[in-house]
Amino acid sequence: MQEALFITLEGVEGAGKSSLMDYISELFTRAGLAVIQTREPGGTKTGEQIREILLDSNNIGLENNTELLLMFAARMQHLEEVIKPALASGQIVICDRFTDASYAYQGGGRGIEESRIQILEDWVQEGLKPDLTLLFDLDVEIGLRRAGKRSQADRFEQEDILFFERIRSCYLERANKEPTRFRIIDSGESLENVKQQIQKVLQEHL
Ligand SMILES: Nc1ncnc2c1ncn2[C@@H]1O[C@H](COP(=O)(O)OP(=O)(O)OP(=O)(O)O)[C@@H](O)[C@H]1O
Ligand SMILES: [Mg+2]
Repeated sequence: MQEALFITLEGVEGAGKSSLMDYISELFTRAGLAVIQTREPGGTKTGEQIREILLDSNNIGLENNTELLLMFAARMQHLEEVIKPALASGQIVICDRFTDASYAYQGGGRGIEESRIQILEDWVQEGLKPDLTLLFDLDVEIGLRRAGKRSQADRFEQEDILFFERIRSCYLERANKEPTRFRIIDSGESLENVKQQIQKVLQEHL
Protein backbone atom coordinates (compact mmCIF):
# COMPACT_ATOMS: atom_id res chain seq x y z
CA MET A 1 0.00 0.00 0.00
CA GLN A 2 1.26 3.51 -0.79
CA GLU A 3 2.05 5.82 2.10
CA ALA A 4 -0.85 8.12 3.05
CA LEU A 5 -0.09 11.82 2.98
CA PHE A 6 -2.18 14.74 4.17
CA ILE A 7 -1.31 17.93 2.29
CA THR A 8 -3.00 21.27 2.88
CA LEU A 9 -2.90 24.43 0.76
CA GLU A 10 -3.04 27.76 2.55
CA GLY A 11 -2.75 31.45 1.83
CA VAL A 12 -4.73 34.65 1.37
CA GLU A 13 -7.44 35.17 -1.26
CA GLY A 14 -6.25 34.88 -4.83
CA ALA A 15 -2.90 33.31 -3.91
CA GLY A 16 -3.47 30.40 -6.30
CA LYS A 17 -4.50 27.51 -4.04
CA SER A 18 -7.45 26.37 -6.13
CA SER A 19 -5.68 27.02 -9.44
CA LEU A 20 -2.75 24.79 -8.49
CA MET A 21 -4.85 21.97 -7.03
CA ASP A 22 -5.11 20.04 -10.31
CA TYR A 23 -1.41 20.45 -11.02
CA ILE A 24 -0.49 19.06 -7.59
CA SER A 25 -2.85 16.11 -8.05
CA GLU A 26 -1.36 15.38 -11.47
CA LEU A 27 2.15 15.19 -10.06
CA PHE A 28 1.02 12.38 -7.79
CA THR A 29 -1.23 10.56 -10.26
CA ARG A 30 1.58 10.61 -12.86
CA ALA A 31 3.73 8.91 -10.22
CA GLY A 32 1.01 6.25 -9.96
CA LEU A 33 -0.34 7.40 -6.59
CA ALA A 34 -4.01 7.67 -5.59
CA VAL A 35 -5.11 11.20 -4.73
CA ILE A 36 -8.27 12.88 -3.53
CA GLN A 37 -8.92 16.62 -3.76
CA THR A 38 -11.07 18.35 -1.20
CA ARG A 39 -11.60 21.75 0.38
CA GLU A 40 -12.63 23.67 3.47
CA PRO A 41 -14.95 24.90 4.60
CA GLY A 42 -16.83 22.13 2.81
CA GLY A 43 -15.77 18.78 1.43
CA THR A 44 -18.98 16.99 2.48
CA LYS A 45 -22.66 17.61 1.76
CA THR A 46 -23.28 19.22 5.15
CA GLY A 47 -19.89 20.92 5.07
CA GLU A 48 -20.77 22.59 1.78
CA GLN A 49 -24.06 23.76 3.32
CA ILE A 50 -22.09 25.28 6.20
CA ARG A 51 -19.75 26.88 3.64
CA GLU A 52 -22.73 28.65 2.08
CA ILE A 53 -23.62 30.20 5.42
CA LEU A 54 -20.01 31.27 5.99
CA LEU A 55 -19.49 32.86 2.57
CA ASP A 56 -22.92 34.43 2.14
CA SER A 57 -22.33 38.19 2.23
CA ASN A 58 -25.96 38.67 3.37
CA ASN A 59 -25.05 37.15 6.76
CA ILE A 60 -23.80 40.44 8.13
CA GLY A 61 -24.51 39.73 11.81
CA LEU A 62 -22.56 36.48 12.12
CA GLU A 63 -20.57 36.48 15.39
CA ASN A 64 -16.84 35.79 15.16
CA ASN A 65 -17.17 32.82 17.51
CA THR A 66 -20.10 31.47 15.52
CA GLU A 67 -17.91 31.68 12.43
CA LEU A 68 -15.14 29.79 14.22
CA LEU A 69 -17.50 27.08 15.51
CA LEU A 70 -19.07 26.60 12.09
CA MET A 71 -15.59 26.15 10.59
CA PHE A 72 -14.82 23.41 13.09
CA ALA A 73 -18.28 21.82 12.76
CA ALA A 74 -17.69 21.47 9.02
CA ARG A 75 -14.16 20.21 9.74
CA MET A 76 -15.39 17.49 12.11
CA GLN A 77 -17.72 16.11 9.45
CA HIS A 78 -15.02 16.41 6.80
CA LEU A 79 -12.50 14.50 8.90
CA GLU A 80 -14.88 11.66 9.74
CA GLU A 81 -16.54 11.33 6.35
CA VAL A 82 -13.67 12.03 3.96
CA ILE A 83 -10.18 12.72 5.29
CA LYS A 84 -9.68 9.95 7.85
CA PRO A 85 -11.10 7.15 5.64
CA ALA A 86 -8.95 8.31 2.69
CA LEU A 87 -5.80 8.39 4.81
CA ALA A 88 -6.67 5.01 6.33
CA SER A 89 -6.78 3.50 2.83
CA GLY A 90 -3.36 4.98 2.03
CA GLN A 91 -4.48 7.79 -0.25
CA ILE A 92 -2.96 11.21 -0.66
CA VAL A 93 -5.38 13.88 0.52
CA ILE A 94 -4.95 17.39 -0.87
CA CYS A 95 -7.08 19.90 0.96
CA ASP A 96 -7.65 23.51 -0.13
CA ARG A 97 -7.46 25.26 3.30
CA PHE A 98 -7.56 23.57 6.71
CA THR A 99 -6.95 24.51 10.36
CA ASP A 100 -4.13 26.97 9.70
CA ALA A 101 -6.82 29.05 7.98
CA SER A 102 -8.84 29.09 11.22
CA TYR A 103 -5.81 30.47 13.08
CA ALA A 104 -5.10 32.97 10.30
CA TYR A 105 -8.66 34.18 9.56
CA GLN A 106 -10.56 33.76 12.82
CA GLY A 107 -7.45 34.29 14.98
CA GLY A 108 -5.28 36.81 13.12
CA GLY A 109 -8.07 38.34 11.06
CA ARG A 110 -10.98 38.43 13.53
CA GLY A 111 -8.92 38.59 16.73
CA ILE A 112 -10.11 35.41 18.50
CA GLU A 113 -7.56 34.19 21.07
CA GLU A 114 -5.29 31.47 19.75
CA SER A 115 -5.94 29.39 22.90
CA ARG A 116 -9.64 29.08 22.01
CA ILE A 117 -8.83 27.84 18.52
CA GLN A 118 -6.31 25.42 20.02
CA ILE A 119 -9.05 23.90 22.21
CA LEU A 120 -11.20 23.23 19.14
CA GLU A 121 -8.27 21.86 17.17
CA ASP A 122 -7.41 19.42 19.97
CA TRP A 123 -11.03 18.37 20.35
CA VAL A 124 -11.88 17.91 16.67
CA GLN A 125 -8.56 16.59 15.37
CA GLU A 126 -7.27 14.63 18.37
CA GLY A 127 -3.70 15.18 17.21
CA LEU A 128 -4.25 14.67 13.48
CA LYS A 129 -2.31 17.33 11.58
CA PRO A 130 -1.31 17.82 7.95
CA ASP A 131 1.99 16.16 6.99
CA LEU A 132 2.78 19.02 4.68
CA THR A 133 1.35 22.52 4.26
CA LEU A 134 2.05 24.63 1.20
CA LEU A 135 1.69 28.29 2.11
CA PHE A 136 1.02 30.33 -1.01
CA ASP A 137 2.41 33.68 0.04
CA LEU A 138 1.41 36.79 -1.85
CA ASP A 139 1.05 40.54 -1.44
CA VAL A 140 -2.57 40.85 -0.28
CA GLU A 141 -3.51 43.62 -2.70
CA ILE A 142 -2.33 41.58 -5.65
CA GLY A 143 -4.25 38.58 -4.30
CA LEU A 144 -7.48 40.51 -3.85
CA ARG A 145 -7.15 41.95 -7.33
CA ARG A 146 -6.70 38.46 -8.75
CA ALA A 147 -9.65 37.11 -6.74
CA GLY A 148 -11.81 40.09 -7.71
CA LYS A 149 -11.41 39.31 -11.39
CA ARG A 150 -12.49 35.75 -10.71
CA SER A 151 -15.83 36.24 -8.96
CA GLN A 152 -18.06 38.49 -6.85
CA ALA A 153 -16.75 39.26 -3.35
CA ASP A 154 -17.86 36.75 -0.69
CA ARG A 155 -18.35 37.58 3.01
CA PHE A 156 -14.61 37.45 3.70
CA GLU A 157 -13.53 39.27 0.57
CA GLN A 158 -15.57 42.28 1.68
CA GLU A 159 -13.21 42.90 4.60
CA ASP A 160 -10.60 45.68 4.40
CA ILE A 161 -6.97 45.32 3.43
CA LEU A 162 -5.74 45.32 7.07
CA PHE A 163 -7.80 42.20 7.77
CA PHE A 164 -5.90 40.38 5.04
CA GLU A 165 -2.54 41.82 6.12
CA ARG A 166 -3.10 40.33 9.59
CA ILE A 167 -3.99 37.00 7.99
CA ARG A 168 -0.86 36.97 5.86
CA SER A 169 1.32 37.81 8.90
CA CYS A 170 -0.31 35.09 10.97
CA TYR A 171 0.29 32.49 8.24
CA LEU A 172 3.95 33.52 7.99
CA GLU A 173 4.39 33.36 11.78
CA ARG A 174 2.93 29.88 11.84
CA ALA A 175 5.18 28.81 8.99
CA ASN A 176 8.22 30.09 10.88
CA LYS A 177 7.18 28.21 14.01
CA GLU A 178 6.74 24.90 12.16
CA PRO A 179 9.35 24.92 9.41
CA THR A 180 9.27 21.17 8.84
CA ARG A 181 5.54 21.05 8.12
CA PHE A 182 5.30 24.29 6.15
CA ARG A 183 6.82 25.13 2.76
CA ILE A 184 6.40 28.69 1.55
CA ILE A 185 5.60 29.15 -2.13
CA ASP A 186 6.20 32.60 -3.61
CA SER A 187 2.91 33.22 -5.43
CA GLY A 188 4.04 36.56 -6.77
CA GLU A 189 5.85 34.65 -9.50
CA SER A 190 4.37 33.46 -12.80
CA LEU A 191 2.19 30.34 -12.81
CA GLU A 192 4.99 28.44 -14.54
CA ASN A 193 7.47 29.44 -11.83
CA VAL A 194 4.97 28.58 -9.06
CA LYS A 195 4.57 25.11 -10.58
CA GLN A 196 8.34 24.63 -10.53
CA GLN A 197 8.48 25.64 -6.85
CA ILE A 198 5.74 23.11 -6.07
CA GLN A 199 7.43 20.37 -8.05
CA LYS A 200 10.64 20.91 -6.08
CA VAL A 201 8.85 20.73 -2.74
CA LEU A 202 6.94 17.56 -3.66
CA GLN A 203 9.87 15.83 -5.36
CA GLU A 204 10.71 13.68 -2.33
CA HIS A 205 7.17 12.25 -2.30
CA LEU A 206 6.94 11.43 -6.02
N1 LIG B 1 1.02 32.85 -10.18
C1 LIG B 1 -0.04 33.46 -10.72
N2 LIG B 1 0.11 34.50 -11.58
C2 LIG B 1 -0.97 35.11 -12.12
N3 LIG B 1 -2.24 34.80 -11.86
C3 LIG B 1 -2.47 33.78 -11.02
C4 LIG B 1 -1.40 33.06 -10.40
N4 LIG B 1 -1.93 32.10 -9.59
C5 LIG B 1 -3.27 32.21 -9.71
N5 LIG B 1 -3.60 33.21 -10.55
C6 LIG B 1 -4.97 33.66 -10.90
O1 LIG B 1 -5.47 34.34 -9.78
C7 LIG B 1 -6.86 34.05 -9.59
C8 LIG B 1 -7.09 33.55 -8.18
O2 LIG B 1 -6.47 32.28 -8.02
P1 LIG B 1 -7.15 31.13 -7.15
O3 LIG B 1 -8.62 31.15 -7.33
O4 LIG B 1 -6.42 29.87 -7.43
O5 LIG B 1 -6.77 31.63 -5.68
P2 LIG B 1 -7.15 30.99 -4.28
O6 LIG B 1 -5.88 30.97 -3.50
O7 LIG B 1 -7.83 29.70 -4.48
O8 LIG B 1 -8.11 32.10 -3.70
P3 LIG B 1 -9.33 31.95 -2.63
O9 LIG B 1 -8.69 31.87 -1.28
O10 LIG B 1 -10.07 33.23 -2.78
O11 LIG B 1 -10.10 30.73 -3.00
C9 LIG B 1 -7.24 33.06 -10.67
O12 LIG B 1 -7.91 33.74 -11.69
C10 LIG B 1 -5.93 32.50 -11.14
O13 LIG B 1 -5.97 32.16 -12.50
MG1 LIG C 1 -9.73 29.08 -3.91
